Amino acid sequence: MAGPLVVDHPLLERHLAVLRAAGTSRETFRHALGEAAAILAYEAMRDLPTRPVEVRTPLATMTGATPALPIVVVAVLRAGLGMVDGFLRAVPEAAIGHLGMQRDEGTLQPRGYYESLPDAITEATVFVVDPMLATGGSALAALGRLREAGAGDLRLVCLVAAPEGVAAVQAAHPDVPIVVGAVDERLDERGFIVPGLGDAGDRLFGTD
Ligand code: PRP
Repeated sequence: MAGPLVVDHPLLERHLAVLRAAGTSRETFRHALGEAAAILAYEAMRDLPTRPVEVRTPLATMTGATPALPIVVVAVLRAGLGMVDGFLRAVPEAAIGHLGMQRDEGTLQPRGYYESLPDAITEATVFVVDPMLATGGSALAALGRLREAGAGDLRLVCLVAAPEGVAAVQAAHPDVPIVVGAVDERLDERGFIVPGLGDAGDRLFGTD
């Protein structure tokens, strides 16, 4: 089985360094997360199928290309919201779905609390976005729910992953490509990614 695609780009590394730093302000964290998400979006869409389109330039008619399928971005709440704008820079027309997942701090199990999914997920390329892939519980719940709802072409895009989370997703969904900015060393006893960047949702929304 192929491993995750770890995006290798100096600008992404710079944003990751900013996001990891404990002293980064909320404003700068939000900005860096959006910029990092845009880079991940471009890489995650590199192999999108395309269809030909006829283009009339000022001088001639030629054949160009455009993505063959609609694109849907599904944000895993809350932290996934911080990646949506970056994706929309690449595909402003994308429909956006939301899945509320709250990880219990004791059991580390996710609890679904909200769902809003565009009808288009059944015919679209669907990008599930969440900055953190830790145990993989939230991603598994999100991907499982999307499969139930009829999504076919699913991809998971995360900023930072733990090896445990990558393995869990690959075991349950071997057909779902995983695109990440970094795979870190491990999880700690609280289920936090080490070195990681802390709790992305809390840092993004000021609830830490
Ligand atoms: C965090 C993070 C992921 C999840 C990762 O969200 O944003 O969704 O935990 O952990 P897992 O892989 O072990 O499931 P959290 O549940 O803290 O919610 P939040 O985004 O609202 O902060």
